[in-house]
Amino acid sequence: MKAWIEEDNINYEYIIRYLRDTIPSPEGLILEMEEYAKKHEVPISQPESIRFVEVLLKIAGAKKILELGTAIGYSAIRMTRASGADVVTVEISEEMAKIATENFRKAECTDKITLLIGDAREVVSDMEGEELFDVIFVDAAKGQYMEFFPHCERLLKKGGMLISDNVLYKGMTANDELVVRRKITIVRRLRNYLEMLKNNEQFSTALLPIGDGVALSFKE
Ligand SMILES: C[S@@+](CC[C@H](N)C(=O)[O-])C[C@H]1O[C@@H](n2cnc3c(N)ncnc32)[C@H](O)[C@@H]1O
Repeated sequence: MKAWIEEDNINYEYIIRYLRDTIPSPEGLILEMEEYAKKHEVPISQPESIRFVEVLLKIAGAKKILELGTAIGYSAIRMTRASGADVVTVEISEEMAKIATENFRKAECTDKITLLIGDAREVVSDMEGEELFDVIFVDAAKGQYMEFFPHCERLLKKGGMLISDNVLYKGMTANDELVVRRKITIVRRLRNYLEMLKNNEQFSTALLPIGDGVALSFKE
């Protein structure tokens, strides 16, 4: 069990601890990466959220995954290890990309993971073709999810999954009383994003209160 709980988790601490007790404990490089993320305050997917994603990938038999927001490569490595899928992951920060590259080497995943450095809004808009990916995991700047969406919609296969992380944003998306003034624009954008998904007939979306909130959308 992890001895610390991230401040952006939206659940009661006893629930989080219990959830984490039900999943395999991290070891080796994954444990090292969790410790690095904690020490250097790099936001990475929370253990119960990424565990959920891993199980979804296995169920879906995912072969090609697009990830927006690599950070140190934690979720990319976990996703390819869980599913055997090829992962294309996009990161805007050169510094993060450098660390992720080193982690992909340590994980012996360099043949499975392609890291593209740049602003995901431009990178995905420059990707040609359509229906290229079985799964798209959106985990970059929360205020930009709506801008990523048209490209995700085009690049995701029919029958594919769009997974958007951190959509409840410390509960602020769901409750005005929790909203911190300087985060109001991001909260408004996340609410618009979830409203758009709700009304989008091409997608069926379920919102899950694990980690910082995960929206799971199926492309009809
Ligand atoms: C929450 S972290 C990603 C965590 C990672 N998916 C994991 O779970 O291990 C978000 C990352 O997205 C990157 N990012 C933010 N906006 C971006 C953009 N427009 N394009 C690409 N990367 C972006 C940030 O630099 C940061 O490293």
